[in-house]
Amino acid sequence: MMYAPVEFSEAEYPRVTYQKRQQFWDPIRLALFTLAIVAIIGIAIGIVTHFVVEDDRSFYYLASFKVTNIKYRENYGMKSSREFTERSHQIERMMSRIFRRSSGGGRFIKSHVISLSPSEQGVNILMVLMFRYPSTDSVERIKKKVERTLYQSLKTKQLPFSISKPSLRLTPIDNRKMRSLLNSRCGIRMTPSNMPLPASSSTARIVQGRETAMDGEWPWQASLQLIGSGHQCGASLISHTWLLTAAHCFRKTKDPSKWIATFGTTITPPAVKRNVGKIIVHENYHRETNDNDIALAQLTTQVEFSNIVQRVCLPDSSLKLPPKTSVFVTGFGSIVDDGPTQNKLRQARVETIGTSVCNRTDVYDGLITPGMLCAGFMEGKVDACKGDSGGPLVYDNHDIWYIVGIVSWGQSCALPKKPGVYTRVTKYRHWIASKIGI
Ligand SMILES: *[C@@H]1O[C@H](CO)[C@@H](O)[C@H](O)[C@H]1NC(C)=O
Repeated sequence: MMYAPVEFSEAEYPRVTYQKRQQFWDPIRLALFTLAIVAIIGIAIGIVTHFVVEDDRSFYYLASFKVTNIKYRENYGMKSSREFTERSHQIERMMSRIFRRSSGGGRFIKSHVISLSPSEQGVNILMVLMFRYPSTDSVERIKKKVERTLYQSLKTKQLPFSISKPSLRLTPIDNRKMRSLLNSRCGIRMTPSNMPLPASSSTARIVQGRETAMDGEWPWQASLQLIGSGHQCGASLISHTWLLTAAHCFRKTKDPSKWIATFGTTITPPAVKRNVGKIIVHENYHRETNDNDIALAQLTTQVEFSNIVQRVCLPDSSLKLPPKTSVFVTGFGSIVDDGPTQNKLRQARVETIGTSVCNRTDVYDGLITPGMLCAGFMEGKVDACKGDSGGPLVYDNHDIWYIVGIVSWGQSCALPKKPGVYTRVTKYRHWIASKIGI
């Protein structure tokens, strides 16, 4: 059915409209209209510039405050202890929640606890807070914003920790100070431009197989080289002077003066180069079974920690990774069976495989000892290979990286049902402590 058009009779429209329209574009209106258009375009350009052209930069603050609802524990003084690690993750999680919920939430990058120290009633927390704001913003203005957000959450939000308001201090710090504070903790990665490297950046770039690493992505990776014959093995920096590697790397020679270590994402040119002064091979290393395939090498002079060279954390001996945990293996090793050493560092994501599976008749048929850890994929495809030996298998726990394996052996590379076999670092945690005291 159609509506009758009569209801919209033309006779009811005012007749003057046409006349008025003609007068609309008088010079003043035209000028105002032009001005408005120019202003809108200007604002649009401003907004685009703000988000695209204008550089954001990182702003760092040192926050100190007292938490009154927890008691200080002896092990908080040891940053590698489980107590320190768990407590600091809880505090860091609380900070993310506070800042991610606030209006400027996208500006918060992350935070790291630097130290937990005793106070009369409770624990003093020292931590670094990282934000990203337009480079034109002022350090003091951001500080005020951050303080406001913190005070507000103290008042209104149910926080897991009771922060004493009068104890709260916020101090702006520069790149250098921030890096030196973070150097007191292991396993933290940053890009050369001081941006944190989240775990997802590594995961996202790996589709299948091995991708070349970015600067600062695996800053503990070292290359162990025999003078005159080049790269032999990988190794991992665990302190200013000590490298953790595999015992089988020193089959040719245990004479430290024949070895050098380099750091950086390329073998040539290296970012840092050091001589080796001491080599400690596990006394029960067995060539035939590959059991206890672990060794330590000490540099003659210490390395300075930076975004390019950094130590990895040693896991607590109690750490247990369930099967199918995502871990990363890195190295300069060949990418095909019997291929050449690569000049650029590469990485691969693999998954841990339970010993009960790995030790099966159809897999490694009883060759797996309690000191070994299997990782890879049962269908093959991604694996460590020749030249990766001694290098790290690392695990990311809340942006702190732990070495859980040392590349040890495997039947060929990336064959189905022949995953990589690694030295299980947690099993040797006490051995490491007994040799070098860390
Ligand atoms: C793997 O199997 C062999 C032979 O059955 C056994 O001796 C060994 O203890 C097993 N390894 C582990 C870690 O259970």
